[in-house]
Parts: sequence; C-alpha cells; structure tokens
Amino acid sequence: MTVQQQFSTVRTEICGHSIQELATKFGTPTYVYDAQIIRDRIEQLRQFDVIRFAQKANSNIAILDLMRKNGVLVDAVSAGEVFRAKTAGYEYNGQPDPIVYTADIFDREALELVVDKNLHVNCGSPDMIEQLGQKAPGRSITLRINPGFGHGHSAKTNTGGESSKHGIWHEQLENCVELAAKHELSVTGLHMHIGSGTDFEHLSQVCESMKETARRVGSSITTISAGGGLPTPYRDTDTGLDVDRYYQLWDKTRKELEAEFGHSISLEIEPGRFLVAECGFLITEIRAIKSMGANQFYLVDAGFNNLARPILYGAYHPMSVAFAGDASSETQSVIVGGPLCESGDIFTQEEGGFVCSRELPGAAVGDHLIIECAGAYGYVMSSNYNSKPFAAEVLVDGSQLHLIRRRQSPSDLIAGESIPG
Ligand code: LLP
Repeated sequence: MTVQQQFSTVRTEICGHSIQELATKFGTPTYVYDAQIIRDRIEQLRQFDVIRFAQKANSNIAILDLMRKNGVLVDAVSAGEVFRAKTAGYEYNGQPDPIVYTADIFDREALELVVDKNLHVNCGSPDMIEQLGQKAPGRSITLRINPGFGHGHSAKTNTGGESSKHGIWHEQLENCVELAAKHELSVTGLHMHIGSGTDFEHLSQVCESMKETARRVGSSITTISAGGGLPTPYRDTDTGLDVDRYYQLWDKTRKELEAEFGHSISLEIEPGRFLVAECGFLITEIRAIKSMGANQFYLVDAGFNNLARPILYGAYHPMSVAFAGDASSETQSVIVGGPLCESGDIFTQEEGGFVCSRELPGAAVGDHLIIECAGAYGYVMSSNYNSKPFAAEVLVDGSQLHLIRRRQSPSDLIAGESIPG
C-alpha cells in the first residue's frame, strides 16, 4: 500500500519535544533523529530474510546500535565502517554474516582487516577477487554485478550502466567465476544495487537480470541481495514505497531460482535512505533575513558543510519554520542559504545549481528553520569547510533525549595538525 506524505511548513515539535527546547538544550545546527520512525521503517521490511542497513547513509554508532537491537544487519564500505559496526556491538562473523564488506576496491587497510577477521566480502571488481584470493583462498564471496543499466535520482547516484564504476560488468561474470575458482573461492551470492530511487518497471528488469545472472553462476548461489535504493518521500507529491509489491517481485525471483537449484535462497535487502531519511531533522536558526532586488533570503546557521545534498544533487528537502516569538500566518517566497563564503551555499536549488525559492512562513531572525528528511546522507557527508564544526546529533526516543554526538569544539577542528619547527 502506498501512502501520500504531507509536509507542513510550520513545526512546533519533534516527537513531543519543542523545537525551542531542543535548540536551547543542544544549540544549532543540530541533527535530531526520531528513533520510532526508524523502528517503523524496519517493521515495514520484515518480510525479507535479511535487512542489511547501508550505514553509509547514517553511521552514528547509536543508530547502528538501534539497528542491531532491532535485528538489522549491516553493510560496510570501508575499514572505518567495519570499526563502527563492531563498536556498536556487531560480531565479525555469524550466520547470516552480521557485517558484509561491499566495495569496488580494497584499500590496504580494508584488505588486511577482512582477511584477519574473516569478514564476508561482496566483490565489486575482478581485482578484489584476485587480491582476496591470494591472501585468503577457500572462502565464500558474493559478487556485486553491474547488469549494464541503472537508475538514480540524479546522474551522480545512478550506479548501473557503462558510465558507472560500480560492480562487476555483467559480461565478465564467467571470467570472475573462473578467477574465484582459481583461488578456491566459492561464489555463494549475487548482489545488484543499481541506483537510488527505484520504480517497478525498472525493478522487474533488475529481477530478470538477477535470475539470468544466477543461472550463469549455478547452484552455488544461496543468497541474493536486492541492494538498496528504495525510494522515500521528500515532497508532498511523492508517494511512499509499496513495500509489498516490491517484496513480491523479489520473492518471485527467489522462488524461481529455488525451484531451479533445488535448495533455499536467502533474500536480502540493503537500504540506507529508506530506513533513516525520514527520521532526521536538521534544526537551524535564522540569523539574517535580507533582500537582493526582488529576492528575499533567509540565511541560517547551517550550510552545505552540514547538509550537502542540495548543492551536490539539487536535492529537495522539506522545510518548516518554528517560531521563537509571535507566529505569522503570512507566507513568502524565499531563498534559503547558509553561512559559507560561497554562492552555492543554498538549500533551495535545483540540479545544475539553479537557485529557486520556496513558499515558507514569514519568519524573523531568531526563529528556527528545520530541514526535514535529512537523516540519510546528511551528517555523514559533512565537512569542516570554512572551519565550521560538525553539528551535534541527538536521538529522540519517546520522552528520552540522548546527545549521541557532541558538537565539535574549536580544538577538534585543528586536532592532528602541527606547525613544523
Ligand atoms: N547498497 C550499496 C551497494 C550502495 O552503493 C548504496 C548507496 C546503498 C546500498 C544504499 O542506497 P539507498 O537505499 O540509501 O538509496 N549520497 C547520495 C546517495 C548515494 C548512494 C550510494 N550508494 C544521496 O544523498 O542521495
């Protein structure tokens, strides 16, 4: 069933906690995550045998801990993400694999780690198979396949097709299976993540490709992973994902393969955004309001150092105002920008950098502006550009508020630097 989302442009609270209280207690900018929304999203995916969280979307160890306590396994794309998962209580090994390392390369640190800890690897290049095979023959691996086509909310998030660097090119499958056999690596699973923002016509194509690829590998296949890319609503006009329909398509694919191979096949899903996008609110304070000719600007204390999706992809995030003083019932068309010394530091922009405006309540300096649906690829893509500290992160769980990362201090900004001599 799909549900139409409604975003309001006025907000007073998050999960019963007033914005004013949150801002006073933690300062701004602060990311606030609502734990219940994450739990609700997890429940929606329970039909899958394994829900594996793509932690690149939000890797705070408190979020990973919440995932783990709710039976969600984890994907890691770097040695750093493996370290986070372990710190959040995931074991290195188990059945099914608690942590899977998925990438297109091993840097030296990651190769050493997966060999040492016997981590399961999902290989995205022939070189990964070769390098793992040399150091750890005899293991099981899965292959991430680029089926030759892809999909994405922007050209930068499309992960399939000839222009993508991701995965093993479908025509090289047999060579890779041979390469694995040379090192006695058995190929036990296939993985296809072909972009963020899936539609059903496209998904049927992916399922067909998965079946065809699995047949070419043969009955050693015991897991298939649908990857991530499940859409999540960012606008009033976006409908939520029809999870049942999504599951049915993949389940049918799995069942056909089970019938052909004569054994059971585990069906995995690997979402990032779907699990965490909607739980996240970036609370900012409006620090200046100014007009430039016909344009009116709200300048807030968060910039693309805190949330890079608008400047990178022209991504749209719902926004709301929390009045600190008197509420206004008027709205106005405004451009929302940040504090950085760079003209592109605008939250209301389209792909290609075209600045646009948004109809928002008439606000005053000191009111808060909340950038919503910011729980995925928000904090994790932050930078210290302009020597701005990373924001604080807060997890709200019902009546409980937990500071899960403190705001950086000035000395954090220069930690590790030194002056020669
Ligand atoms: N699995 C693999 C192998 C992936 O590469 C990705 C995302 C996912 C799962 C999770 O995809 P999701 O369910 O979150 O769409 N920074 C961009 C998104 C980049 C996605 C990269 N890979 C954004 O902010 O939209």
